[in-house]
This record gives sequence, structure tokens and C-alpha cells, in this order.
Amino acid sequence: MTAEELAPPARGRRRRWEEVPIPLRAEVAARLGAEVTAATSVATGFSPGVAVRLTLQDGRRVFAKAVARDWNRDTLALHRREAEITAALPPAAPAARLLLSVSRAGWTVLVLEHVPGRPPRLPWQPKELALVLAAVDGLSKLLTPSPVSAAPASELVGFADGFKRLRQRREAAGDPLDDIDPWAVRNLERLELLEASWSGSVRGDTLCHFDLRQDNILIQGSRVTFVDWAQALVGPAWLDLACLLPSVAAQGGPAPWTIFGSHPLGRSVSEEVLAPVVAAMAGYFLLRQSLPPPAGMPTVRAFQRALGLPTLAWLRHICD
Ligand SMILES: Nc1ncnc2c1ncn2[C@@H]1O[C@H](COP(=O)(O)OP(=O)(O)O)[C@@H](O)[C@H]1O
Ligand SMILES: [Mg+2]
Repeated sequence: MTAEELAPPARGRRRRWEEVPIPLRAEVAARLGAEVTAATSVATGFSPGVAVRLTLQDGRRVFAKAVARDWNRDTLALHRREAEITAALPPAAPAARLLLSVSRAGWTVLVLEHVPGRPPRLPWQPKELALVLAAVDGLSKLLTPSPVSAAPASELVGFADGFKRLRQRREAAGDPLDDIDPWAVRNLERLELLEASWSGSVRGDTLCHFDLRQDNILIQGSRVTFVDWAQALVGPAWLDLACLLPSVAAQGGPAPWTIFGSHPLGRSVSEEVLAPVVAAMAGYFLLRQSLPPPAGMPTVRAFQRALGLPTLAWLRHICD
């Protein structure tokens, strides 16, 4: 993939810290024990709310996220989930600790430890990719068995049904699915069967981040930190590796199959077990690329379209 073909930036529409109601900001300052003197918005990430580095009067730095129900109802639930998961992560986890969260009157504010560093450079560089891939291995070991009670991946609702919903759209509405890859459309029934085996493939007892991507990773020297734990669930140790790889390919890295089969987490996973997961991810992206964007997230569909390409290429590599 050339630089021109890189996925669009993982950036949404950020809100300003000053848009958080004054009483909530005052409560945050009171609980932190210091006033906020500067707020610098962070561009990366899609959640339609505030993501900001705060400087406090005593010189400390913290990271905050905030969202209102009116901005996006689903994001409010995700932020609340992120607070629960993050608070329950073991201290040794390579994650930012939750300092406090405030949820009331249709708002949630999370304040986390500020992680120094930056996301991996794009296009992906071999050294940073190797560092991150090793960190994913370490993460899965640390989080097995899952130290957090989270939903099992096998019971995930509204995920492994993209091809089914595309097939239903074709049948019910006579939609020719012109905007969907022709190979996928030709193989729709077969791919629907494959994604339906998701539940059987994702049994496991590892806490998986389940949203691993360049914009949810921070690197400082050789230290890798994983942020944004809202989607975490319990599944097999290799699930996070499988989820990360399509985005690596979409952002200038190697094809997923060239990494998965030689990675310590992926090499013992049979194609029979892997295929339903890749099918579910491909169906997820292909369906979403054609749906209207969620509230406050005008850029996410183009990003999902770009991630769908290497995911589908991986699926074809397994299926053909
Ligand atoms: N604890 C933190 N310290 C410093 N920067 C962070 C921290 N958490 C996230 N970030 C940066 O802020 C961006 C947005 O945060 P994230 O939690 O991923 O929000 P979103 O839900 O919008 O994806 C990330 O891409 C990352 O670069
Ligand atoms: Mg994020």
C-alpha cells in the first residue's frame, strides 16, 4: 500500500473542554485538588466528545474524556463502560489508571493518568510494529485469566452479522449492493455462514481490548501503553492480534497473514478457528461503510471503508 492509499486519519470531531458544564468541571477540579489552567484537545480518536490533556495549577498533567448524552447516546454508555473496565485493570496493566469519573445528568467525564508519549508513526515502521506486537503478546499473558468481569466475546450482540444484514438488504430491498466488493457479494451466503461461527471461535479467558489500533496505542521509548478500554471483553488470547492487524495493513504495514501466522499468539490458531473472526470483522466494516454516520462522527465511515479492504483481503487469502 502506498502513502496515497493510507487510510484517512483516525480523527473525528472534537468538542472543547469548555463545553463541559461548569459544575462538572468544578467537581473535577475539586476532586483533583487543583484548578485546570490549560486544556489541549487531542485530535486522534473518533468519539464525538472531549479528549483533552489538562494542565493543573500545581503543574500536574492529566488526560480527560467527556461526552453528553445529547452528543451521542452510545458514546455515553461506552465512556461509562470504559470507567468500569479501566478502574478494574490490574496495576501492572500497560494502561492509564483511572483517577476519577463523574456521571450525572446525561454526562460522563473520565479523568485518567496522563501517559507521556505518542501514537506509533504512520505509515507503520518495522521497529515500532515489532515493539507493539511484542506488547500485545505481553498484554494477553498479563490479562489471562481475565482479571475483570466483562462480557464474553461469544455473546457479543450486533457484531458478527454484517454479511447477514447485507444479504437481508439485498433480499428485502432489492439492493444490488453496488458499493460492496463484488467477491463479497458473490460469496455472501458463504460468508454469512462463516461469520455465524464467530461464537464458537472466540471462547477464551483473556481480557481483550478489542479496539486495538494505532490511535489507541502510545509509545514512549520502548514503553507501550494501550488506551481506550471501552470495548473490552473476554475472549481468546489471539483476538486482539487479529483485530489489530487489518488496521496495521490499512496504515502502511504488512498484510495481516504475513504477521499472524508467525506471531506467538497466532501461530497455533488454525484457519478454521480464525476464519469466522476475520469474516465477522470484514462483515462489520463492509456493512458499516454503507450506513449513515453515527451522531457527531462524520469521518468514521471512510475510516471503516479503508479498514474493510485489508480485512477482506485477509478473508480471501483464507477462503480462496
Ligand atoms: N491517558 C492518556 N494520556 C495521554 N494521551 C492519551 C491518553 N489516553 C488517550 N490519549 C490520546 O488521546 C486520544 C483519544 O483518546 P481515546 O481514549 O482513544 O479517545 P476516543 O474514545 O475518542 O478514541 C488517543 O488517540 C491518544 O492519542
Ligand atoms: Mg480511541
